[in-house]
Amino acid sequence: MNDLDSLRQQYQDLLDRLQRNESEFRRLGRAVWRVQEDERRRLARDLHDGVGQNLTAIKHRLATIASMLPADSRDARNALEATIALCGDTLEDTRQLSRLLRPAILDDLGLEAALRWLARTQGEASGLEISVDIGTLPALDSDLQTLLFRVAQEALNNIARHAHARSALIRLVARGALLQLQIADDGQGFEPEQAQRAGGGGLGGMRERLRLYDGQLELHSAPGEGSRLRAVVPLT
Ligand SMILES: Nc1ncnc2c1ncn2[C@@H]1O[C@H](COP(=O)(O)OP(=O)(O)OP(=O)(O)O)[C@@H](O)[C@H]1O
Ligand SMILES: [Mg+2]
Repeated sequence: MNDLDSLRQQYQDLLDRLQRNESEFRRLGRAVWRVQEDERRRLARDLHDGVGQNLTAIKHRLATIASMLPADSRDARNALEATIALCGDTLEDTRQLSRLLRPAILDDLGLEAALRWLARTQGEASGLEISVDIGTLPALDSDLQTLLFRVAQEALNNIARHAHARSALIRLVARGALLQLQIADDGQGFEPEQAQRAGGGGLGGMRERLRLYDGQLELHSAPGEGSRLRAVVPLT
């Protein structure tokens, strides 16, 4: 082997090693992320089934006690009713937190149902009109469903927090071997480059997660022009 061949060989070996490291890095990244989602799923269930059910029981018992009070104990009844209302609010907060952590609908009914649910609840909470357009999709593996759900969740959060929009659109379609999720709004828009340089956790995290699945994030927006986010991942 002459010098040039040996150099070529060394270069090829390095390249192979780099590629192995890169795919190992991705495998690890996906594993970490899966563990995190599993943990969220468990917490969400515990909150809903444990704390949530106990609060429901407490509320019912307080109502029973209230009904047992003599007619003239108005102060005690008022105090009990305020406590029942507090219990109800805490129950609602607990359920909301559980759904935010990991909505059961994503595991039970899949991505399409989860996106429709997200649009409805986010729309109600923020006053935005959110439409959903979902094409015919092949069966999607659970990692991919979670990935796209998290992208949509963060994008809608951003719209609710920053856009001052009136309406938004979620569109999910399969194009050949690619899955494409678009989320657009008619709000005030922003400078994507600048926003990403500022290093917000949301958009940066989204981009990194997508990269672990060989996906990409594109942002189109300018001040005054609304914004459009496109996430593309291979269907593997
Ligand atoms: N739909 C949008 N309309 C207008 N501005 C947006 C929109 N999405 C993002 N931005 C701008 O981009 C910035 C970065 O967004 P990013 O999600 O990365 O961070 P953040 O929302 O500020 O914080 P975090 O997501 O970590 O809680 C935002 O602060 C906001 O200025
Ligand atoms: Mg954000």
